[in-house]
Amino acid sequence: MLVLLVAAAAQQRVLPFTILLNASLAPLGVRRVSKLVRTGFLDGQILYRVIPGFLVQFGVAADPTVHARWQRGEKRRLKDEPNRMPFRHGTLSFAGAGTDSRTSHLFVALAPNGVRLGRGTPHEATLGHVVSGMETWERVVANYQKSGYKDTGTLQGPLVQRGNAAAAAYPLLDRIRACHMECQ
Ligand SMILES: *[C@@H]1O[C@H](CO)[C@@H](O)[C@H](O)[C@H]1NC(C)=O
Repeated sequence: MLVLLVAAAAQQRVLPFTILLNASLAPLGVRRVSKLVRTGFLDGQILYRVIPGFLVQFGVAADPTVHARWQRGEKRRLKDEPNRMPFRHGTLSFAGAGTDSRTSHLFVALAPNGVRLGRGTPHEATLGHVVSGMETWERVVANYQKSGYKDTGTLQGPLVQRGNAAAAAYPLLDRIRACHMECQ
């Protein structure tokens, strides 16, 4: 069991939250998250896809050269694992596009619509849950709604190409300040 401590920041305010990962739910996925945290891959990255009542997604490194290393080669793709727990408000899962597509993109599911994820979608498997700081995610949604970024998801490609510079027009979009892992 692992505890992931992350802080999202908007307008200089750092809002902490904790995700409790459960390696028995999805060992490959949890090991990958652990690697992303340990290597600093998540630090500074923008929460680039926000859909109120559904999910908040991230997983493009702030630095495009770092991201390119993760995209190189099929070995970065994880085999799917069964979803062993129904999704709920605050579930962490990899995002993907079909069978064995998990790489570095992650999302936190939000109620009400996000709780329907993880059924019949092979890459969606529960990795753990937000256990403290769930209100941080409400703030992320509120900041997104004020940010002027409407076409959610369209930043993903530009972020991959140019890193955080691609989101310069949206200073209100939240980003992960830093994260670290503790073993329980
Ligand atoms: C972790 O997942 C396993 C397998 O589903 C479950 O039995 C266990 O209760 C979970 N642990 C926690 C702390 O949720």
